Amino acid sequence: MNRREFLSLAALGLAPRLAAAQAATTRLRLASSSQRLAGADYPPTAVWSYNGSVPGPALRFRQGDRLRIAVQNDLPVETTVHWHGIRVPNAMDGVPYLTQPPIAADGGRFAYEFDLADAGTYWYHPHLGSPEQVGRGLYGALIVEEREPPAVDRDLLWVLSDWRLDRSARVVDDFGNFMDASHAGRIGNTVTVNGAARESFGVRAGERIRLRLVNASSARIYALSFEGHEPWLVARDAQPLEPRRLARERLVLGPSQRADLILDCVGAPGSRHRVVDDFYPRSTYRLLDLEYSADRPARARRDAPSPLPANPLPQPDLARAQRHRIVFEGGMMGNMPGGMGGMMGRNGGLAWTVNGVAMPETDHKSDPILALSRGGSYVLDLVNDTAWHHPIHLHGHVFRVLSKNGRPAAEWGDTVLIDPRSRAEIAFVADNPGDWMLHCHVLEHQASGMMAVVRVA
Ligand code: C2O
Ligand code: CU
Repeated sequence: MNRREFLSLAALGLAPRLAAAQAATTRLRLASSSQRLAGADYPPTAVWSYNGSVPGPALRFRQGDRLRIAVQNDLPVETTVHWHGIRVPNAMDGVPYLTQPPIAADGGRFAYEFDLADAGTYWYHPHLGSPEQVGRGLYGALIVEEREPPAVDRDLLWVLSDWRLDRSARVVDDFGNFMDASHAGRIGNTVTVNGAARESFGVRAGERIRLRLVNASSARIYALSFEGHEPWLVARDAQPLEPRRLARERLVLGPSQRADLILDCVGAPGSRHRVVDDFYPRSTYRLLDLEYSADRPARARRDAPSPLPANPLPQPDLARAQRHRIVFEGGMMGNMPGGMGGMMGRNGGLAWTVNGVAMPETDHKSDPILALSRGGSYVLDLVNDTAWHHPIHLHGHVFRVLSKNGRPAAEWGDTVLIDPRSRAEIAFVADNPGDWMLHCHVLEHQASGMMAVVRVA
């Protein structure tokens, strides 16, 4: 196999494993392309993409590999690539001005290179002009396989995205409007799974599937149920947890969050089962059907899956941890920056604050809201004093969620979804030096003030 063939296989995630581990450089090229998102009855949609497809290539590595990616930006806008949820050295974090200069429009290049210490399901996306760049299709999954992956029949990926399309399936060009920014963000009208609105997803009776879900939507929150099935939740935000059956419990995924499920296909050959999203009251819809082939069952019964191996994350020392309170305010029906002027969108479009400060997207040089000592343990008390949901994401670290929305929690993550007028406590060891973003992952909130810098030194 020559280098070109290898790279194109690598882009599809099909490269042989050993070769992948030694792979030289993967290329990611940003350009405009078009794709049939909305189904056969609509024309293709003009999108922005990595390597010509939305989502971009699913990049697959093995735990311990070194990632090397050469980015070439052929779009007419500046960009960066952020590796969401991965513990990278600060200079590789892809935050414009804070960790690197933007990658220039029309031909700019940047090389990312770092080691992959942790296994799991991650994703990549721009961190500049994100409402528009992500809203037009720039994102992809990044999968780091465990050294000994669990035994499953298939390892599959669903990248969920939400589009605001007009009647001709064109992306509606109202990015950055104050209405979206000050409410729930840009909620669209078309949900795609792996870049297409789908009727069905084919499965075989008896098979065991590892299903990796990535919520790449700007603002939409999902609450999925798999009718007739009880998938096991085995990881959240790439971090393993004690496998738990989702029986009557829906899988809630906020923007940027991921989940790994073990889905045992217990349906009968030829049957169909709905996967339903009912997060928003009064707008329940069918995401797609699991469609069983007529094949005889591959296997009859399954034991509970064993837990995935834990990643080498530092354990915060809760007894000694220093506590800090971080308050998120603003938005419609809340304490908007600039008072009535802010309400009218006359505050440079800023609608939200973190500890009283609204940080504009173009200013990544604001003073840190927190300076943490390297190696120290910290608990952040995240207070959502607004009428809206916020998925709060911290860069460079993975945290333990101690409590969430009034209930104790026991999971790791890089993003925590906080209900309106509620709070969450997260704990972590500040072991990764640098200036890191802490922000809401509703991209319209992020771009209208809901972000801050945390310094670790
Ligand atoms: Cu997924 Cu600051 O980003
Ligand atoms: Cu938010």
